[in-house]
This record gives sequence, C-alpha cells and structure tokens, in this order.
Amino acid sequence: MLRTHTCGELRIENQGESVVLCGWVQRVRDKGGMIWLDLRDRYGVTQLMFDESVSDASVIEVARSLGREFVVKAEGEVIERYSKNDNIPTGAVEIKVSSLEILNPAKLPPFLIEDETDGGDDLRMQYRYLDLRRNPVRQGLELRHKMMRETRNYLDSVEFLEVETPYLIKSTPEGARDFLVPSRMNPGEFYALPQSPQTFKQLLMVSGFDRYFQIVKCFRDEDLRADRQPEFTQIDCEMSFVEQEDIIQTFEGLAKHLFKTVRGVELDYDFPRMPYSEAIQKYGSDKPDIRFGMEFHELNDLAKDKGFVVFDSADLVVGISAEGCATYTRKQLDNLTKFVQKPQIGAKGLVWVKCNEDGSFKSSVDKFFNQEQLQAWAERMNAKAGDLLLLLAGEVNKTRSALCELRLEMGNILGLRDKNKFAPLWVVDFPLLEWDEETERYHAMHHPFTSPKPEDMALLDTKPGEVRANAYDLAINGVEVGGGSIRIHDKETQALMFDHLGFTEEEARAQFGFLLDAFEYGAPPHGGLAFGFDRLCSLFGGSDSIRDYIAFPKNNSGRDVMIDAPSPAGTEQLDELAISLKK
Ligand code: AMO
Repeated sequence: MLRTHTCGELRIENQGESVVLCGWVQRVRDKGGMIWLDLRDRYGVTQLMFDESVSDASVIEVARSLGREFVVKAEGEVIERYSKNDNIPTGAVEIKVSSLEILNPAKLPPFLIEDETDGGDDLRMQYRYLDLRRNPVRQGLELRHKMMRETRNYLDSVEFLEVETPYLIKSTPEGARDFLVPSRMNPGEFYALPQSPQTFKQLLMVSGFDRYFQIVKCFRDEDLRADRQPEFTQIDCEMSFVEQEDIIQTFEGLAKHLFKTVRGVELDYDFPRMPYSEAIQKYGSDKPDIRFGMEFHELNDLAKDKGFVVFDSADLVVGISAEGCATYTRKQLDNLTKFVQKPQIGAKGLVWVKCNEDGSFKSSVDKFFNQEQLQAWAERMNAKAGDLLLLLAGEVNKTRSALCELRLEMGNILGLRDKNKFAPLWVVDFPLLEWDEETERYHAMHHPFTSPKPEDMALLDTKPGEVRANAYDLAINGVEVGGGSIRIHDKETQALMFDHLGFTEEEARAQFGFLLDAFEYGAPPHGGLAFGFDRLCSLFGGSDSIRDYIAFPKNNSGRDVMIDAPSPAGTEQLDELAISLKK
C-alpha cells in the first residue's frame, strides 16, 4: 500500500504516529508562514500542515505548487490541532508533513467538487467521474451498496438462490418498447434486451429452483422521468408452491429488513392493503401516498343538476378538503387553479369552497349554489370550519388523476410529505386487463402470464374489464416500488389469456412457444415479484431522482453525455451486421 491510513481514519489517539496518506487536494490555505491543506479520499478529509519555519524548503515549494484535485502522497506526524473542527471525524488532528510527493497533477475541474457545487446537471453528467468525488453522490452509491448487501443477506437467509439469466434474448412483454441488438452471425435477425427476466424466472420454476432471485439490469425503451431510466435494476424474485399471501409475507419481510438494517427504521406492523378499485376511488392513483389523508369525496348526487353547466356536463364531481386552508388568499387560490390547468395535469378549472370559522361558506360558485348546498358538500367531505374544499369535475379517469396531482401538491404545500416518514401500502386485486384506446383492444395490465382470480374467470368473455388478477404492487410514499403476480401455470389458461389479448395461436407460439412447451412438463404453481431497486434506493436516500443512485445514468433523452452514446455506427460495422440505414 502507498498509504498507512485513509483520510477518514485518524483520531486524537493516533497522536505521535508517523503516517502516510494519499488523496486529492480539496483546498489549500496559504497564510504566509503556514500552509494548511485538506486532503480528501473516499473516507473523509484530513488536514495537512506545513510550517515554513521548521519544514524543509523543498516540501514547502511542492505544497505551494499544488492545485485543486492534484493527487498527492504525504508523510508526517499526527499532531493535535490547535483549533479543532468538530464537524469532521478527523477534526481533532492534523499531519505535520515531512515529505510530500505529487502522484499526478490535475487540470482545474470544470465545477467545484464540494457538497454544494456550482456545476449544472449537464456539466456534472459530462464529467460524472468528478461528480462522483462529491460527498452526496458518493453517499448515494454507498447506500446502494448496503441495499444490495442486505437484499442478498435476507434472501440468502430464506433459501433464495441467485441465478443469472441472459441479456441477449427475445421480446419480453412488460409493456415498453424493446431495445434491439442485431446479430452478426444471423444476418437480419435481432436479439431483444430483457425488459425483465420474467419468462426465464418462470422457466427456473419449471426447473425446480423454487426460490429464485437476481439483482438484475432491465432495459425498457420508454419516455424517461425522474424515476425512470432506460436501463434500471430490479430485485427480481420468483417462488414455487405459493399463493399471493406467501409472496406478500416474504417480500414484506425483505422490505422490513432493508428499512431496519439500512435506515434503522422499524416497521413492526403488517403493511396495510387496499384493493386497486378503492385506491383509484379514494386517491385517484394505484400508488397512493398514504402519509396523509385528504381522501377524495364524490359529490355527483349533491352537485349535479343544479344549473351549473360545468358540473352538469361532467361524469364525475369530486373533491378534497384541505385542513385549515380557508384563509387562502385570492392569489393562493389562483395559483392552485393555474396548477391544475397545467397541460400535464389537464383540468379546465378548479372550484373552491371556504368553510369560514363563523359557519358560513364562501365559494367560487356562489352564483349557483346556496349555503345549505355548500354545507352538504362540506359534511360529505368531513370538512370543519377553517377548511378549504377543492373540487374538480369532468371525465372520470382524467378528473381523478388531476385531483391526485392536486392532492399531492397540497400535501407538499402543507408539509405532509415528510421524507423521513415511510408509509408502505400493498395495492391488491388489480384488473387483469386494461382497455387501450389507441389500439382499441385489451392489454394485460401486468403481463400476459398473470393469473386471473378463479372466481372472476366467468367474466372473461362477458365483462373482461372487470376480471381481477392475482396481482399486487407495493407502493411506499406514493412511489411504486415493486409489483408482481401469481402466474398462470397451465397451458390451457395461458392459451386462453393469449387469445383474449388478441394473439393468434401462431403469434403466441412464435413468441412464447418455449414457455407453453415448458408448461407441459410439470410446471409448479408459482408467482413472484420485482422491486425497482433504483426507486427503493431513492426512497431510502430521500432524493426524488433515481439518477442520484446510479453511478453512470442516462439523461432524459436516454443519452450518456459522458461517453457520448448512442452514437452513429461506421459503414464497416453496419455492413458486417447486414444493416443499411434509411436516409
Ligand atoms: P414491473 O414492470 O412492475 O414488473 O417492474 C417492477 C418494478 O420495476 C421498477 N421499474 C422501473 N424503475 C426504473 N426505471 C424504469 N424504467 C422502470 N420500470 C419499472 C418499478 C416497478 O414496480 N416482471 C415483472 C415483475 C413480476 O411480475 O414479478 C415486472 O417487471 O419500481
């Protein structure tokens, strides 16, 4: 080793020891006769001290030549610091340097390598290797490491076996577009990168590996957001001889283990469960944030057919009650109206009712509704004096999702979404199928291997949209952190499902023949789930962006600006792959 200690290691007990440290120059303070230098590595910062009156002139000369981020090796004695720094663990000591060597000089970095940097997003991504030297970014990756370690510890302790599955495969139906990889050896043919190892983990069940897991990369070509990357990581799991309850118990156990060992948070209660239909009706979302209430109340019977055309023409009038907000000013109400009118939220307008302290009501629709009517709304919404009712109206799904956004916004405004409070919720009984307006046919809401609830099978031909699946998601603080299902394990039901999804027999065989075949060789009943690992990390770490927990993430256009990918391929390479590009 070039060093005896790390830059985060030395304490007052080490006083008098002769040590060698290596690291990067964080900053130099030259006070004439004295020079102080902060030396940084992954473990921390240690102060080096040079005294012109006692140190060798050559050492002082080297110290004066240093710039930010130079890599140096310093040898010296650990001494007690005159003015201590209680903010860092090494703050009681400094090194009286006797020899200093520059291991490598450094160009001036394009942004400050400090906790608070002056570098914008793009610049930091272009020089991500420098960004990764900053404490908050490094800590994100340390958290990720702990999460991986504890995931493996837990799953190993309950007999799960980690098995790798291939990346060069064929389309997996998780609902996104595939990334394709051309095959040189099979001209004109393509692999698809896995959107998840779904089919492989089911095949492993057929093989008898009754408890499988894998911390695995998945690839989905979809529109990106703060919580979505084109390549992301799942904790992917599958179990045999189980029912939904067994899976929920097992992975609730994993979630609790992670909270306890990584965050020190004991969640010693059964996570609540809510049917999908209730989540949609009460929160307008299949991943409700239940850190706070503010549930939806529907007002069709009280608000329609009273001559207010906005409500009369709406399929749904629905609202929330914001506690203590009756004092909102015109400006605050206008801001809320502007918020719901943003294109991505899409409401036409917002109706508000103030429940005044004196028992009267003041609303934006006073022309159409009298005090008694407004009072009836307030009662329906369990509002009390001082509260503010916020109502939206329109088409059912759009109105619910707009109100969901408004509810979350009010939660933010009122400080109800504390990052250090965790509210897990299992959302269960998802619909099996989902109507797609664009293609005008049903899609599998989860994926086509999800088993319908046996008691709903009869509805498959008559009311396919009402069939519920043995499918479940784990939502925490409004984030979908995981989801899974009990699978179909017999060929007949699987064929029936493909049929309802509009696959011809030939199409189903061409895409999933291997799975249908496998189901004929003794497939055990099985089911599983996958956690979005990056999302779990960001939830634990308290940042909204999963990029903060990925060493080398892509930007919102799916680009890695550091290595400049994707990039054009040369003619020679394309020829080898038998590919010609459209002009
Ligand atoms: P699903 O598609 O719900 O299920 O994915 C599981 C979890 O993965 C996370 N996730 C993502 N995270 C970051 N970027 C993305 N683009 C992205 N897409 C999904 C979410 C999600 O809950 N094979 C099934 C699981 C199963 O049935 O066992 C599957 O992949 O947190």
